[in-house]
Amino acid sequence: MKILFTRSIQSPLLKLIPEDYEVFMWTEENRVMPKEALLKEVADADAIFTNVTDQLDSEFFEHAKKLKIVSTMAVGFDNIDIKEATKRGIPVGHTPDVLSEAVAELALTLMLACARRVGESIQFIKDNKWESWGPFLFAGQKISGAKLGIIGMGRIGKILAKQAKALNMEVIYTNRRPNPKIEDELNVEYRNLEALLNESDYVVMLAPASAETYHMMGYGQFSQMKPTSIFVNVSRGSTVDEEGLYKILSENKIFAAGLDVFEVEPIRHNHPLLTLDNVIAVPHIGSATKETRDKMVEIGVINILKGLQGERLLHTVNEEVYK
Ligand code: GLV
Ligand code: GLV
Repeated sequence: MKILFTRSIQSPLLKLIPEDYEVFMWTEENRVMPKEALLKEVADADAIFTNVTDQLDSEFFEHAKKLKIVSTMAVGFDNIDIKEATKRGIPVGHTPDVLSEAVAELALTLMLACARRVGESIQFIKDNKWESWGPFLFAGQKISGAKLGIIGMGRIGKILAKQAKALNMEVIYTNRRPNPKIEDELNVEYRNLEALLNESDYVVMLAPASAETYHMMGYGQFSQMKPTSIFVNVSRGSTVDEEGLYKILSENKIFAAGLDVFEVEPIRHNHPLLTLDNVIAVPHIGSATKETRDKMVEIGVINILKGLQGERLLHTVNEEVYK
């Protein structure tokens, strides 16, 4: 058996890999495995440990003649052609739940940092511009008592709603359809997208990437938000039309945006969005706490070992392969 790791992964669990298995690990830190190398190494691999930066498209699956398991160290799987995997009977494992708290905490971090203009304030001091306390110096927005609108109420949204309630926020959400169970459990209310955008002081994007959610937030949608409101994206960049976001922010028609994800990653320093004072951008670190990433690696490795032994994975994206 051969297991292909597309990044350098350290985990005590690697010791559980049987000695007669072959392990190929791409060890260039912070560099995505080039497509050519990926196609070459997967040709005789039985399992792959992947992540959000690898594109597992139909060409990949055509080369993956022996592949039995795909295991991604992520909750999202829009970089994987799930249909191709399913057609070939390959289960795709992912790592939900263990990262929900960390991602919700980053959403909250970005909400607070935007509201209190923390990015600009840090830069102001570093640029040695601080001359005196000012009555309205970096006056921002309040979070307590404000209304949070969550787009895409899933596992992460539920945790964010609870955290927001602890800050005395009111919470509304939109989804493909209302979920009465979540409403009872969390005391949150459903709105359609337009109403949510109209009412919210904070809008957090948590909807996964799909054809349906592609550019679901554009200039027209941002125009429905309040001038004092804040937009946060910790899901996928493709859900937002960045040109529309740039336009609304540069016209100061919303207050600020906090972004963890981008249409093209890595975003470059000269991207228009990064020239704006009212944008706080971080490099796709939603689940990046040490503890959470360790857990994600652990589940990813267990998924591979279980899969190669013919058992069900801990979390399978395409359950239909078992039918
Ligand atoms: C990261 O973006 C993930 O999907 O876990
Ligand atoms: C992701 O796990 C979500 O359901 O929000």
